[in-house]
Amino acid sequence: MTTLFSSVLQNRAPKVSVFIFFLISLHCLSLISVRVLAQTSPVFACDATKDPQVASYGFCDTKLGTDARVADLVHRLTLQEKILFIVNSAGSVSRLGIPKYEWWSEALHGVSNVGPGTKFTSLVPGATSFPQVILTAASFNTSLYEAIGKVVSTEARAMYNVGLAGLTYWSPNINIFRDPRWGRGQETPGEDPLLASKYGSSYVKGLQQTDGGDPSRLKVAACCKHYTAYDVDNWKGIERYTFDAVVTQQDLDDTFQPPFKSCVIDGNVASVMCSYNKVNGKPTCADPDLLAGVIRGQWKLNGYIVSDCDSVDVLFKNQHYTKTPEEAAAKVILAGLDLNCGSFLGQHTEAAVKAGLLNESAIDKAVTNNFATLMRLGFFDGDPSKQPYGKLGPKDVCTPEHQELAREAARQGIVLLKNSPGSLPLSPTAIKTLAVIGPNANVTKTMIGNYEGIPCKYTTPLQGLTTSVATNYVPGCTNVACGTAQVDDAKKAAASADATVLVMGIDQSQERESFDRVSLLLPGQQPLLITEVAKAAKGPVILVIMSGGGFDISFAKNDDKITSILWVGYPGEAGGAAIADVIFGYYNPSGRLPMTWYPQSYVDKVPMTNMNMRPDPSNGYPGRTYRFYTGETIYTFGDGLSYSKITHELAKAPRLVSIPLEEDHVCRSSECKSVEAVEQSCKNLAFDIHVRVQNRGKYGGSHTVFLFSSPPSVHNSPQKHLLGFEKVSLTGKSETLVRFKVDVCKDLSVVDELGSRKVALGQHLLHVGSLKHSLTVGI
Ligand SMILES: *[C@@H]1O[C@H](CO)[C@@H](O)[C@H](O)[C@H]1NC(C)=O
Ligand SMILES: *[C@@H]1O[C@H](CO)[C@@H](O)[C@H](O)[C@H]1NC(C)=O
Ligand SMILES: *[C@@H]1O[C@H](CO)[C@@H](O)[C@H](O)[C@H]1NC(C)=O
Repeated sequence: MTTLFSSVLQNRAPKVSVFIFFLISLHCLSLISVRVLAQTSPVFACDATKDPQVASYGFCDTKLGTDARVADLVHRLTLQEKILFIVNSAGSVSRLGIPKYEWWSEALHGVSNVGPGTKFTSLVPGATSFPQVILTAASFNTSLYEAIGKVVSTEARAMYNVGLAGLTYWSPNINIFRDPRWGRGQETPGEDPLLASKYGSSYVKGLQQTDGGDPSRLKVAACCKHYTAYDVDNWKGIERYTFDAVVTQQDLDDTFQPPFKSCVIDGNVASVMCSYNKVNGKPTCADPDLLAGVIRGQWKLNGYIVSDCDSVDVLFKNQHYTKTPEEAAAKVILAGLDLNCGSFLGQHTEAAVKAGLLNESAIDKAVTNNFATLMRLGFFDGDPSKQPYGKLGPKDVCTPEHQELAREAARQGIVLLKNSPGSLPLSPTAIKTLAVIGPNANVTKTMIGNYEGIPCKYTTPLQGLTTSVATNYVPGCTNVACGTAQVDDAKKAAASADATVLVMGIDQSQERESFDRVSLLLPGQQPLLITEVAKAAKGPVILVIMSGGGFDISFAKNDDKITSILWVGYPGEAGGAAIADVIFGYYNPSGRLPMTWYPQSYVDKVPMTNMNMRPDPSNGYPGRTYRFYTGETIYTFGDGLSYSKITHELAKAPRLVSIPLEEDHVCRSSECKSVEAVEQSCKNLAFDIHVRVQNRGKYGGSHTVFLFSSPPSVHNSPQKHLLGFEKVSLTGKSETLVRFKVDVCKDLSVVDELGSRKVALGQHLLHVGSLKHSLTVGI
């Protein structure tokens, strides 16, 4: 989000005006900067100590309802003043006691200083940095998602109170991780719409919900982005700024939209961000069907729609979507955009109104949504120190509890992909020396991924492992690109150690925003180093892959000398401690892959730009994700081992479900393959599935039960899709019962070719682990 915006800002300001501004403000410049640096109090409006008049303003009257207060404020503003409030760096209206407000803050996995609204200073030098989202998602634990959101919003409020952070956060990123090459896949909860929906709504609740539970108030405001079908950054020169995502109605409605719908409806999010790309020829931020129609009309967003930075400028300048900038301004506002990240609307909206392209009432609507959000945050309630959260401060950031949750999140997400008998867990008493090898073995910043902040502190993998045993560290490669591996030193270390841990993988130099991968192989000589070290090793060899996206590591999967494989995502500030917890068995691994790991041949064959989820037999296109792709995989969505042996048994599951259609329903007299999921008779039709889960091993631990269904093959439906998941904790040699409530319309339905939800009639195959159960849906 940042790159283009900063370059746009630099390009935009003509040198002459900058110079003049500089001259005028020169005499007070030093004063201003001193004040900014020394700022330790929050920005807010309606400060009665500064302006006694505020008591008389309706918008400052906390006894009035939000709508009335917002209406009062909008009524007082001139057109020019309103326009100050539709851009991220909002202007001030000093005659009404309204200070400047910066809308752009980020909190993807901890309070971040990527947006200009948040800074770290000596007062708050860092904030708790949780694992990158893709790893947290792998925990499949919705309470954890919410718990992290809650800690992040507490730290955000604490920083706001000392003038270091905003109240509006443009997180989370809930785009589907559709293609393994995507540089921003790391920021997302993975490839499955249900998982992305649960992640998004849980994290948003954690960020937004106040302790009192009053839905009209916000702790901080979250934002679900990037709406919609956005997942190409820069692949072989094809850039997000001009990419036209060609998406079928069916894929849009059953893959790309569900996380956003859930975020708005279940999460009650305060904002949605439209993306850079076009969808079927239209820039998303200028599409009235997608914005006003779906987000506000169908889903009833209670909040504001913001553009990516600076996607309004992009749709005019790069996409040439309109002839004039005024038309672009009018189009996006009329489409339902409320706030522009960037300055485009600040520059061209007044002229658009003067030209008659747009009425002031449309701007009233936009600022009303923006002010209502600030109102819910308490921005217009006067002194924040007298409000809820007003007592939070620097002491509430990076607390031991918060940092322990960062470690716990990494532990819960780490995925054990391979484990030969006698390999993991390593015994911290039997192992006298451990060889720790690899370019990611002693990294710090790599562990926190992108959209990061400054963490409280780091525990590197080497530091984590060294806490338990004596280690011998050999980098093996100078960086993750690993042009030339130093194989000999690494082999020597492995040959003389009781066990070897190789910490390999990648970092932001290989996958990041504006940079997609082209290969799924480990870079450079990493495979050579791994294979040679394994050959030379005396003891078990543990391969640790640190990355956002998956790899074709078939060479390691099939190498008997490599006895264990762990995927650790980008595990956050405490990542090294969590890795050691898993390796030494202080934590029994319970993470599951949130995305498919494909063979290299997949990306050789499939252009990243083909948005189709479904396979196309006519041209050999294989389809995408576990829901549609039937080809060979390296690892699959949901894969992940435990140190225990877990078994499942179905304790309760119906064999037949009947949808009680009315007597005169058309499907009673003629053969139907499916019925509408909105039929009155299908509503509230639900049944229970009970699964007995047994831990047959001695290690206690957590285990995720997945309930998948394979519907009858009508409407090009997925071969398999996730209906529900539940993470449970089990002591050694114990069992528990997991209950799923399956809603026939909601959970068993599929989206047809036109985007309608249908329940297929006939045999649905339910899967729990390796169990399969046949369920007939009839009428
Ligand atoms: C502005 O408002 C007038 C009067 O209600 C209406 O006729 C006109 O169509 C509106 N213009 C735009 C661009 O919406
Ligand atoms: C490992 O990284 C830490 C933190 O950057 C550093 O202090 C330490 O010296 C490194 N250890 C080795 C053996 O290089
Ligand atoms: C889910 O996460 C929460 C928060 O860390 C934790 O207390 C709980 O034990 C986890 N659930 C399972 C089943 O591991």
